[in-house]
Amino acid sequence: MTGQAMRVVSGIQPTGGLHLGNLLGAILRWVRMQDEAECLFFLADLHALTVEVDPTQLKANVREMAAALIASGIDPAKSTLFAQSAVPAHPELAWLLQCTARMGWLNRMTQFKEKSGKSREGASVGLFTYPVLQAADVLVYNATHVPVEEDQKQHIELARDIALKFNNDFDVELFVAPEPYISGGTAARVMSLRDGSVKMSKSDPSDMSRINLTDSDEAIVQKVRKARTDPEPLPDDPALLTARPEAKNLVGIMAAISGESEAAVLARFAGQGFGAFKPALADAVVALLAPLRLRLVELRRDEAQIDAFLAAGAERAATLAAPVLAGAYRAVGLRA
Ligand code: TYM
Repeated sequence: MTGQAMRVVSGIQPTGGLHLGNLLGAILRWVRMQDEAECLFFLADLHALTVEVDPTQLKANVREMAAALIASGIDPAKSTLFAQSAVPAHPELAWLLQCTARMGWLNRMTQFKEKSGKSREGASVGLFTYPVLQAADVLVYNATHVPVEEDQKQHIELARDIALKFNNDFDVELFVAPEPYISGGTAARVMSLRDGSVKMSKSDPSDMSRINLTDSDEAIVQKVRKARTDPEPLPDDPALLTARPEAKNLVGIMAAISGESEAAVLARFAGQGFGAFKPALADAVVALLAPLRLRLVELRRDEAQIDAFLAAGAERAATLAAPVLAGAYRAVGLRA
């Protein structure tokens, strides 16, 4: 499959709203990529079922996350934006790929270990096979690049292994092995504001651990002010942040927002304490989020418009997925 044009595919779970980690780690990069490649972005609502959900909320969550993506700059006229569950080719291909993926491969997935915690026996089978559906999500479109952050890299590597094994087992050149497209820059991973050793996440029980797209300016200021730090002033060398995860996180967030390196941020704040740094950081976060939040409030007024964007996106996605799914059925011998 050489000479193939760049095709970007990525997804986000519609559980809870967007937070600063999603934005800096993924969505703002998706927005930039829209002008560089053909892009498909989806709400991973089937993945959301792997843990407990409220059925009365799921549809609304999908619409809300779609609106949040559009408010952040995803343009349905440029990108194919849709809900995963509206394109049955995803779960259909996932079944075929479950027969290619090996138990041993899935046993190595760290996300399952993290999410199932101590209740491995009580976790859903879907949580265990989650990465296979994720593989189907990208392989069904012959994605060449999958923008994700470090937390998802292992899943994309698994998708590569599945693609190569399927092609090899059935002697076809069907699937493209996708590249995880990690930013590698600062704030590649935004950490919790309460604990610099865990990532900022929608599932953290403490709302003070994350900054949400929907937070008011006052809430943002408050969360940044209360963010855990240490008593030392900021150093002038980024290497000295390594042993200070909370400080490193805040500097990384500032750098990601301003587009500077960590060193450039430190050059401005070296020798100063967090009393000086935090207000500047809160200002930067507010300046980034406030306009997006306003746009989100506007978009929410027209649910029918959001649904229409998603329906058009799903139709286009289904058209793109059909030949690859048919090829997979043919390869395994279920279709002539
Ligand atoms: P999800 O919904 O957890 O996150 C969506 C995107 O945001 C990134 N991200 C972060 N980046 C930096 N710092 C953080 N604290 C942070 N938290 C989340 C994630 O890396 C991701 O890029 N399994 C996926 C959804 C998915 C998917 C796919 C992604 C389903 N199928 C196919 C890519 C391709 C997930 O749960 O992402």
